[in-house]
Amino acid sequence: MKTNSCLYQRTGMFPVCVSGTGALTAAVCLLLCRLSSSSPPAPVPLIASYFGTKTRYEEVNPHLLLDPLSVNRSVLKPPDTERCSPVHITAVIRHGSRFPTVKNIRRIQQLSDLLREASGGSGVSGVAEGSGDWLQDIQSRWVTWYTEDMDGKLVEKGKEDLRLLARRLSVLFPSLLSEENVRKRKISFLSSSKHRCVSSVEAFQEGLQHLGPREVQYTHQLDDQLMRFFEHCRGYVDGVEKNRTALAEVEKFKHGEEMEGVRKRMAERLGLPHHRLTPDLVEAAFFLCSYELSIKSLHSPWCFLFDQKDAQVLEYKSDLKQYWKRSHGHVINGLSSCPLFHHVFRTLDKAGRPRRSSDAPPDPASVLIGHAETLLPFLSLLGLHKDETPPTAANYQSQHGRSFRTSRIVPYAANVVLVLYDCERGARLQLLVNESPVRFPPLPDEDAPLYRDVRAAYRPLLDGCSEHRGCEGRHTEL
Ligand SMILES: *[C@@H]1O[C@H](CO)[C@@H](O)[C@H](O)[C@H]1NC(C)=O
Ligand SMILES: *[C@@H]1O[C@H](CO)[C@@H](O)[C@H](O)[C@H]1NC(C)=O
Repeated sequence: MKTNSCLYQRTGMFPVCVSGTGALTAAVCLLLCRLSSSSPPAPVPLIASYFGTKTRYEEVNPHLLLDPLSVNRSVLKPPDTERCSPVHITAVIRHGSRFPTVKNIRRIQQLSDLLREASGGSGVSGVAEGSGDWLQDIQSRWVTWYTEDMDGKLVEKGKEDLRLLARRLSVLFPSLLSEENVRKRKISFLSSSKHRCVSSVEAFQEGLQHLGPREVQYTHQLDDQLMRFFEHCRGYVDGVEKNRTALAEVEKFKHGEEMEGVRKRMAERLGLPHHRLTPDLVEAAFFLCSYELSIKSLHSPWCFLFDQKDAQVLEYKSDLKQYWKRSHGHVINGLSSCPLFHHVFRTLDKAGRPRRSSDAPPDPASVLIGHAETLLPFLSLLGLHKDETPPTAANYQSQHGRSFRTSRIVPYAANVVLVLYDCERGARLQLLVNESPVRFPPLPDEDAPLYRDVRAAYRPLLDGCSEHRGCEGRHTEL
């Protein structure tokens, strides 16, 4: 019997068996895979890795579906020619899986009304004969259960996302994220004031203390200047957030030929008149598939309305929005995160300062909980995921290999961890994104360059990227 022949596809999440003997072996293997794991992975829609910021963390790290506590210690890569030990980590983490926000709950409601009308035969004319199967399938297997009070709150799975992440990181950094350091309040916790972030920072602390919510002593502070900097940067709010021109590519793509194709196919499958299905409702159906998966681990009937090509188009639409609104599309997007950037480097400076052996050790860890909108500008400012050609409404076909894929970068519970090591030649810094090593773009030859080299590489930002220059003026080009 081969118990070790189950692999994960790069995109789909079914365990796939690499054996030549066909379906029977596949079935046996699926069974064994399930038996060998305490919580067996449920069947996952093939489109699950294209949900942009609504992607599950497990889609990025599929081995977690088999063992949510598996830790790969080889991601820590200080040079093997030097003795090094980690002395501090700063972690910027996105909240876990959440309910839809009110805007999307209303769209779900609209979609659900449209379908009810269509199957009732009243109101909507021209429902095609014979194309009612999809519609019936959805109607018989799904009822809407979303209510507006759920508005973006963290779901139980989202708490688990953060507890498990905390436990994995404490295995990776046992001397830093230790129970003792938590108990002695040596770890600082900062959060955005949004409900989902506060619940996330609490869940993270539960994970570190291996305790249930009742016994844990929470110690976090709220700081929206740092974690929701995008609301406090006038240059950004005026230049991008409130500026329709700044997101022109998104609007163009939304009504362009690729999105029209997806809309047409979905309308045909449901037997709905084309004009009733707006691009927003198409997206609502796609996100419904994502919510049912991330909240309830369900393979919802909505998922069958889209094939992989459709999902890639919808993913691109989300990526365009994030690129132009939160990332390299406009320089101010990255600059708006300067307060966070400076805070992180001040913390690292303090932790890495040379000290005598009699001095107290540095603070072991700083944990900052925010949003996808917190992580994306910060990563952009560091220079990550910057492709040679910006994604636009017109170049979808040439963007398949792009590195800017929000499904990979900012799924639920996405995290950026800066690891400071004490090494023989001085302090070194390593970057982990979603628990994988990533090099600093200005220092592409080293996994963990000397901290002073990192500082030198980002000197212009550390010196000049002040809130004043980035945010007070209009759309400053640095
Ligand atoms: C562990 O991490 C290293 C470094 O990123 C990687 O090369 C290796 O493939 C990973 N191993 C597993 C089993 O994922
Ligand atoms: C709006 O965005 C466009 C395109 O990026 C830019 O040229 C223009 O200056 C912006 N308007 C404001 C008020 O900042």
